[in-house]
Amino acid sequence: MKIVMMGPGAMGSLFGGLLTRTGEELWLVGYRKDQTETICSAGLTFEEKGTSQIIPMNATPDVTSVGKADLVIFFVKTYDTERAVSDALVLEKEDTIFLTLQNGLGNEEVMCKQIDRKKVILGITGHGATLLKPGHIRHAGWGKTLIGELDHQITDRVTQIAQLFCKAGIETEVSSNIHDNVWGKLLVNVGINALTALTGFKNGQLLDHPETLRLLEKLVSEAAEVARRKGIHIEENPIDKVQKVAEATRENRSSMGQDFDHRRKTEIDAINGAVLREAQFLEIPVPFNQAVTDLVRAIEKSF
Ligand code: PAF
Repeated sequence: MKIVMMGPGAMGSLFGGLLTRTGEELWLVGYRKDQTETICSAGLTFEEKGTSQIIPMNATPDVTSVGKADLVIFFVKTYDTERAVSDALVLEKEDTIFLTLQNGLGNEEVMCKQIDRKKVILGITGHGATLLKPGHIRHAGWGKTLIGELDHQITDRVTQIAQLFCKAGIETEVSSNIHDNVWGKLLVNVGINALTALTGFKNGQLLDHPETLRLLEKLVSEAAEVARRKGIHIEENPIDKVQKVAEATRENRSSMGQDFDHRRKTEIDAINGAVLREAQFLEIPVPFNQAVTDLVRAIEKSF
């Protein structure tokens, strides 16, 4: 099987590094030449639980050099999805599967504008990783991965991908309602990402201060209310769930935190900004999500 990872940032490299354990052919495709060149020439430096290893891997900025793929996984930032999907079309053959494991809302819609929706599957992951420098990551948070078909059927192809991920040590289950799970993951990012970006904290530190804990609860409660009003079924108490993820990824700096550290554009529009859009449509006030969205957008403009 040929697997292509679009986006060799922290999470793309993490999944790429883990998936090499399956022995399948794996390619990382990225826009940053320094990143792909480092990985190609020196391998991926992969830190985990105090150990470090070099994983040899194929990486290229030129997607046309890869050939056709069986599985394409998107881990680019949400604002790059459209471009990445358009570039990835050269990888397509009759039975290619396109999987998104990105944060936020809206990736499915962007993908299905260019790809037949029968070829698209959705997923979420609770893992966290930090990009220390190009080609060098630290695995800093563990959690379950869920994948599922858009029509919620349990199919052989999704089951096989879940088995492949499990073989790589990525604990993965097939979901029979991945859209609910995407919202469940959204609530995690709603509670953790903007707050860690704005405070400079690692994920776990949000739990150590009553002030940030209170803000996390407010952000998540507002978003959970929006989800409920949309008819989304959220399995677990959302605040407990977000706190558990913050604990399990305690040592990680969230992806938005890392974006702030590097003065990069963030995924705010697909996370708290997406909650705002849905809330406006439903005419529900979400003042805490409004406040963090405004703050993140204002600071971003200075980058
Ligand atoms: O965006 C992130 O950083 C991750 O989704 C998560 C799970 C919050 C871990 O840092």
